[in-house]
Amino acid sequence: MKTLTEKIEEKVKQAFEAAGYDPGLGHVSVSNRPDLCEFQCNGAMAGAKKYHKAPFLIADAVAEKLAGDPAFAKAESVKPGFLNLTLSPAFLAQELNEMAGDEKFGYRGEDKPRRVVVDYGGANAAKPLHVGHLRSAVIGESIKRIEKYAGNEVTGDVHLGDWGLQMGLIIEQLRDLKPDLPYFDPEHTGPYPDEPPFSISELEKIYPAASARAKKDAAFAARAHEATLKLQSGDPACTAIWHHIMNVSRKDLKKNYDSLNVHFELWKGESDVQPIIPGMVKDLQDRGIAHVSEGAVVVDVAQDSDKIEIPPCLIQKSDGAALYATSDLATILDREEKLRPDRYIYVADKRQALHFTQVFRTARKAGFVKPETELLYVGFGTMNGKDGKPFKTRDGGVMRLENLVADITDAVRQKMAGSDDLPEDEMEATARKVGLAALKYGDLSNQASKDYVFDPERFSSFEGNTGPYILYTIVRINSILKRYRSEGGTLEKDERRIGAPGSEVEKDLDLCLSRFPEVMETARQELAPHRICQFMYETADAFSKFYTHVKILTEPDEARKKSYLSLLTLVRDLLTVCTDLLGIEVPERM
Ligand code: ARG
Repeated sequence: MKTLTEKIEEKVKQAFEAAGYDPGLGHVSVSNRPDLCEFQCNGAMAGAKKYHKAPFLIADAVAEKLAGDPAFAKAESVKPGFLNLTLSPAFLAQELNEMAGDEKFGYRGEDKPRRVVVDYGGANAAKPLHVGHLRSAVIGESIKRIEKYAGNEVTGDVHLGDWGLQMGLIIEQLRDLKPDLPYFDPEHTGPYPDEPPFSISELEKIYPAASARAKKDAAFAARAHEATLKLQSGDPACTAIWHHIMNVSRKDLKKNYDSLNVHFELWKGESDVQPIIPGMVKDLQDRGIAHVSEGAVVVDVAQDSDKIEIPPCLIQKSDGAALYATSDLATILDREEKLRPDRYIYVADKRQALHFTQVFRTARKAGFVKPETELLYVGFGTMNGKDGKPFKTRDGGVMRLENLVADITDAVRQKMAGSDDLPEDEMEATARKVGLAALKYGDLSNQASKDYVFDPERFSSFEGNTGPYILYTIVRINSILKRYRSEGGTLEKDERRIGAPGSEVEKDLDLCLSRFPEVMETARQELAPHRICQFMYETADAFSKFYTHVKILTEPDEARKKSYLSLLTLVRDLLTVCTDLLGIEVPERM
C-alpha cells in the first residue's frame, strides 16, 4: 500500500497538472508547522521562477483544484505561495482502517528482498562480557529485526574475537596454575582429555589475572606472545586448550546473550577464517593490490577526496602475524562464498571507524565484493556514567553485563512494589522483562552514534520517554480490551472499524499512527532504531492524552465504542510490533 504522503502527493501533483503546471512541482512533505497544517507543498515557490509568475497565483490555482477533494478538510494557499494541507477526518480514518487490515500495517518493506549480514555482538571469547558489548548486541539485534521486517533474508553473526593474544595469556597462566596438566607435559602422547581443565568461573578469573600480570611481567608477556604464535601455527597442545576455552566460553556467552533476548544465526569467529588468510595475502600481493612496506604488507587506501588522512590498511605485520583487518577481510571472502550478501552491516564502537573505512576500501579495491554490494558500518558511542565518563562500577572496575541487568531489574522491582499484586514468580519474570526493556529502550532511544548516560533511575521510570512507559501503555490497552470482552463485548477482526476522529486528541493520535509506514522506511534506510522509539513515544503520549479525554468503556453509543476499541487495538498492535523490532518483550501485566 502507498504511504500517506505518497497518496497526498499524488493528489497534489494531479492538481498542479489540472491547473496547467508541471506536476513535478507537487512534492509534499509532513508539515514542519503542525500547528498550522499536517502536510505542506512548497512547489509553487519553485514554479514561480519557471513560469515567471507570482508564487501565490500558482498556489491559489492549485488550492482551488484541491478544494473539492474529500481527502482534505482544508487545502489553503498562504502567502507568499505555500500550500497548507489538512486532512479530513474521514480520509484519515480510512487510512487507518487500511493499515489495520494490512499485514505490515502499510509498510511495504524493501522493493526487492536483499541478503543481509549483520555482524554484531562481537564479544571476545574468554574475556568477561561487559557493557561495551551491550550496545553492539542491543543495537545489532534491533537492526537485524528491522531488516527482517523489511522482507530481507538476514543472517546475524556474532563474529567472536577468538584468536588473539588473550589465548596465549590464558594458556601461560594455566601452565603456572596447573603445571601437571598433560598439555604442559612435553612427553605426552595420544589424545588430550575431553574434560575442560577449568570451569567458566575459573576461566573468568584467569584472563584478567594474566592480563594484569603481563603488564608488569615482561617475561610472562613474552611467553604469552609465544604461546599465541604456537596456537596460530597449529601446535596440538595449545589447540586442545583453545578448544576447551572456546567451548566453555561460547556456552557462557550464549547464556548471556539469551538472557538479553539476543540471538545469532551464526556463531563464527575470527579463528574460522585463519586458514584462508595466507592465500588471501599472497593473492593481494600477486595482483599488486598489497605491497611490502618496512617489512609489513599493506594496501594503500587513501583517496584524493579524503578530508582526514587515511593510512594504509595493514594486513600482515613484519613478523608475519595477521591483524584485525586481515580477519575482517578474510571474513568478507568467506561470507561472499557462503552467503553472497547484498548488504553487510557492522555494528561496532565508533572508535573503530577508521578500521572499517580501511577494510571496506581494501575489499572494494581487491574486488572481494560486487560494486553494488553495500558495506555499512554503524558506529555507536560510549555508555557513560553520571559523571560523564565511561561507565564503571563503584570500585572503578568494568561493570559486568549481568550485574548491569540485575541493577536495572532492582530499580524496576522497587517501582513495581505496591502496583498490581502479582504472584511472586510472575513478579520476578515481569521485573526482568521490564528491566530489560528499560535498559534496551534507554540505549536505543538515543541516536546510536551519540554517547549517552546510563541512568537506571530514569530508564526504569514508568513515566516519560522510557521502555517501562511504553510497556505500560500496551499492558493498559490490553487490560481495557480484556475488560470489554469480559463484559460480553466482542471485537472480531471484521467488526473492527475506526471511525472519523471526533476530537482534536483523537485526530492527533490518528495522525501519529498514520506515520508508521514512513517511520519504518526511515528506520530501515538510516539503520536507526531511535526513529522507532520516537514513534513509540509520540504514539504512547498521544494515546495517553486521548485516554484522559475520552471515556471508552462507558461510551453509550455502541458503534462509537467499537470504533474507540478498534483504534486502541491498532495502537496496541503497532506498539507491540515496535517493541519486537527493538528486541523487547511485553509482559502480560505490570
Ligand atoms: N571483537 C571486537 C571488539 O571487541 C568487535 C568486533 C566487531 N566486528 C568486526 N567484524 N570487526 O572490539
